[in-house]
Amino acid sequence: MSESHGQQNCEETRGRFRKHGQEHVFRFWDELDERQRQKLADQAAAVDLAALKRVHEANSDRADVRPPKLEAVPVVRLPAQGGEAQAAARAFERGKQALADGRVAVLVVAGGQATRLGFDQPKGAFPVGPVSERTLFEQQAQKIRGLRRRYGRPFPWYIMTSDATDAATRTLFADNDSFGLPADDVIFFKQGMVQSLDFEGRMILERPDRIFENPNGHGGSLTALLSSGCLDDMERRGIDTVFYYQVDNPLIRIADPTYLGFHLEAEAEMSCKVVQKRDPMEKVGVVARADGKIGVIEYTEIDDEHRFATDENGELVFWAGSVAIHVFSTAFIRRVAENADELLPYHVSAKRIPTIDEDGQPIQPSEPNGYKLERFVFDALAAARSVCVVEGERNLEYSPIKNADGTDSPASARRDLIAVYRSWLDAASIELPKDGTAIEIDHSRVDGPDEARQLGIQRCAEAGGAIRVQARENA
Ligand code: UTP
Repeated sequence: MSESHGQQNCEETRGRFRKHGQEHVFRFWDELDERQRQKLADQAAAVDLAALKRVHEANSDRADVRPPKLEAVPVVRLPAQGGEAQAAARAFERGKQALADGRVAVLVVAGGQATRLGFDQPKGAFPVGPVSERTLFEQQAQKIRGLRRRYGRPFPWYIMTSDATDAATRTLFADNDSFGLPADDVIFFKQGMVQSLDFEGRMILERPDRIFENPNGHGGSLTALLSSGCLDDMERRGIDTVFYYQVDNPLIRIADPTYLGFHLEAEAEMSCKVVQKRDPMEKVGVVARADGKIGVIEYTEIDDEHRFATDENGELVFWAGSVAIHVFSTAFIRRVAENADELLPYHVSAKRIPTIDEDGQPIQPSEPNGYKLERFVFDALAAARSVCVVEGERNLEYSPIKNADGTDSPASARRDLIAVYRSWLDAASIELPKDGTAIEIDHSRVDGPDEARQLGIQRCAEAGGAIRVQARENA
């Protein structure tokens, strides 16, 4: 680009910012060198000013919004909860067929910043293996290798990163030979960033030459699949179904055939896995209809009338906690991504956003000074012509790592992972190690009670390294 052309574009961008009341973004312009000016101008040119304005206006009107009227949605229950065992068996076969036909891709969202955990690397690099300290990514790669072995198919794995996690994630995979997967079948793509706003709707400078931005939320996965060309890549590979999960759940059953089967049988465009809330106060969003539209109602948004509502048996009416495990049709992802402005509105949350003072010196505010914007993947539910909600087995499928300690921490996740492994050993009549022993199973070789049984062994030591135990837990 010639300098004059660059300057002209820059003037145009500044003009647009002025019109939108965002001229302050350039207030240090005269003090910036050429390189800094270019950086700021490039960043500014990519900002969707009209979209930010809409978010701010919608948010300013929020005080008048009454809480929605909620209705429970039908859920495919587990056989143990009154679900039909035959239907589950049918779904299992249907799901297995789709997997064997190579119609399914796996998508993990791994662009988050792990603020609560306080981990300075991508969360997927967190060492979760009870014995070997294998990372979440390595454990997931083992599961995908297990799928490849079982179904004789590639199972492309789409890994969504963000500016915050991209480089470190790629390095981790490169340094570990893609954890035994063909590099062509591990596809990284980056989600977009979005600017934060102060309470007057103005962008916030993080440095004199930089506007503060954060990853645009897990909902950004749908738009980024489209803009990165990954959706085209899926379709080229003959994939029409996408299994979506979050990077931080070591119990995840990747591409669970029964769940996939229910989704396909229902001809759903998007499906949702739920588990029973432990109690009304548990901090988990519930799947429900809000003013007629299906979605996930966050725990901060449900009012007490609905939160504590019980049925004639004394059971919670809104028991179906979302665990952020979804199945999508690729056609639906395309439709949502192409209409994201309407279908995936930004949500705002007040935060302390690092900024600078009038002299350009950094400030760490002690109180929220603005709001971060994010898109939520479950907002897409409202746009789906058909949604299938399936109950999962919480103890066996969901124990995320969110916090440094206490609930949903590395310690609770390792404890629950070991409990799952013990249940597999028990079902396979393999002698159980003493309580408190760390156990780790290589998912590429054994991924469930049936495969544990097929080993035909009586003790873990006979598993040829597929099952490892260590006397003291590595918590
Ligand atoms: P969380 O909302 O739990 O965020 O994301 P987090 O980054 O893991 O942790 P906190 O909130 O900063 O403490 C749930 C999942 O969605 C992904 C995360 O990587 C995680 O797998 N995510 C979240 C993204 O990929 N991008 C985002 O912008 C936000």
